[in-house]
Amino acid sequence: MGQSKGERQMKIVVANHKMNLTASEILTYEKYIEELDKPNLKIVICPSMLYLSSFKIGSCKLGSQNVAVQEKTNLTGEVSARQLKSVGVAYSIVGHSERRTALLETNEMIRSKIIELHAHNIMPILCIGETLIEKNKELTIKALEKQISECLRDITKPIIVAYEPVWAIGTGVTPSKEEIEQTVSIIRILLETNRQPNAKVLYGGSVNYKTISMLEEIKKLDGYLIGGASINPKELVELLNMIK
Ligand code: PGA
Repeated sequence: MGQSKGERQMKIVVANHKMNLTASEILTYEKYIEELDKPNLKIVICPSMLYLSSFKIGSCKLGSQNVAVQEKTNLTGEVSARQLKSVGVAYSIVGHSERRTALLETNEMIRSKIIELHAHNIMPILCIGETLIEKNKELTIKALEKQISECLRDITKPIIVAYEPVWAIGTGVTPSKEEIEQTVSIIRILLETNRQPNAKVLYGGSVNYKTISMLEEIKKLDGYLIGGASINPKELVELLNMIK
């Protein structure tokens, strides 16, 4: 997972399809992705698990949206890190707030997933973020500190962090530039104290053609995690053209 200097400065853009796109739609999508020529960006496409083994990524990287918590368990319906690696998955999202909320994933489970991914040389993309209730009670830092310290306990291999305020996901609303700058600075301090001083920090939550100009002004960001705006390939390409 070593990176050259040029690669280190490249912005990372992660496209999270969630449960979108049917078998025929993904073929159309693939055509756009195969033709993409964006040498300034590292683009990670995370389609539904269904398509991972056949997805033609061109110059992009392949990512999964999840991974099983353990290799050596019979767990019906799950996909292990070893299986993901065998089809070329290089990145995996873990700890997405939708899974934390709807499937009750805990920080301890997320930490186990990170360990599994590292064991198979897959780069974890750890999602963290505060809920609206936490934000309104001024508990953002406390929430982030808990997620970082518990998910990353004793983990020193490289990771990527995606800061995704839960209230900004799929809502069209984002924090202000100043709010993101301030929170990302705090996240970097928390990562340093948790033995992850070199972790890249992405922003996610309503990244689209309306919000990208403001986000691009934030020098502290290493890239973006994009949900809704990554599902239509034309829209994604337009968005990528706006990212330096
Ligand atoms: P969004 O989703 O871009 O649609 O807000 C981001 C995410 O859920 O990762």
